[in-house]
Amino acid sequence: MHVTTVARAPQTGPDARPAVEDSTVWISWPNEAECERFARQLAGLLRPALAAGDSIVIELRGTLGAGKTTFTRHLLRALGVQGRIKSPSYAVVEPHEAEGLSMWHFDFYRFNDPQEWEDAGFRDLFASPGLKLVEWPDHAAGLLPPADLALHLAPQGEHERHVSARAGTAQGRDCLTRLHDAGWGPMQAPAHASAEVAP
Ligand SMILES: Nc1ncnc2c1ncn2[C@@H]1O[C@H](COP(=O)(O)OP(=O)(O)O)[C@@H](O)[C@H]1O
Ligand SMILES: [Mg+2]
Repeated sequence: MHVTTVARAPQTGPDARPAVEDSTVWISWPNEAECERFARQLAGLLRPALAAGDSIVIELRGTLGAGKTTFTRHLLRALGVQGRIKSPSYAVVEPHEAEGLSMWHFDFYRFNDPQEWEDAGFRDLFASPGLKLVEWPDHAAGLLPPADLALHLAPQGEHERHVSARAGTAQGRDCLTRLHDAGWGPMQAPAHASAEVAP
């Protein structure tokens, strides 16, 4: 079951929910099963755009152990990736293919040489169709294109994660609107979230 710490505003009347004007949705995953359910819903929203040849970039922020790789694995599985999904920590990038879709999982934690960006062909890769999931995007700041979505994960104890989902493009905004319509999170920052998962 999905739980938010802030009551949802009514759909109509003077207190109607605002449009996605601040382009951020505040979400709680009480456990990993909810992380997986979110990933499955997001996969369903991304699939048509990816199948049409779009490029989609999703940044994943948060401390070590927040759940960036775990979420990525659930999303890749939901998009049809089978077998072991290795963490790309040492290789920087792991490529995946499934159901005619191209996906790349980046982890820039150890990335510190901008020349590698050119040498490894990352510029071309980010310009090509497919899904790019990016852990530690700040370590490649100035090189990455704008993200369609940025998810910031903040652990609350062992199982719960507070998540802010921010859109950086019209496509990302469309995605957030649909997630919100599907019942994910309020559009305004709950009091607890302002500092820890600032978008
Ligand atoms: N709600 C949750 N969402 C995501 N991961 C969770 C959740 N609850 C517990 N976990 C656990 O937290 C850990 C996250 O590790 P990982 O995904 O490697 O983090 P990161 O990539 O952010 O460093 C995993 O062991 C995962 O099973
Ligand atoms: Mg990781």
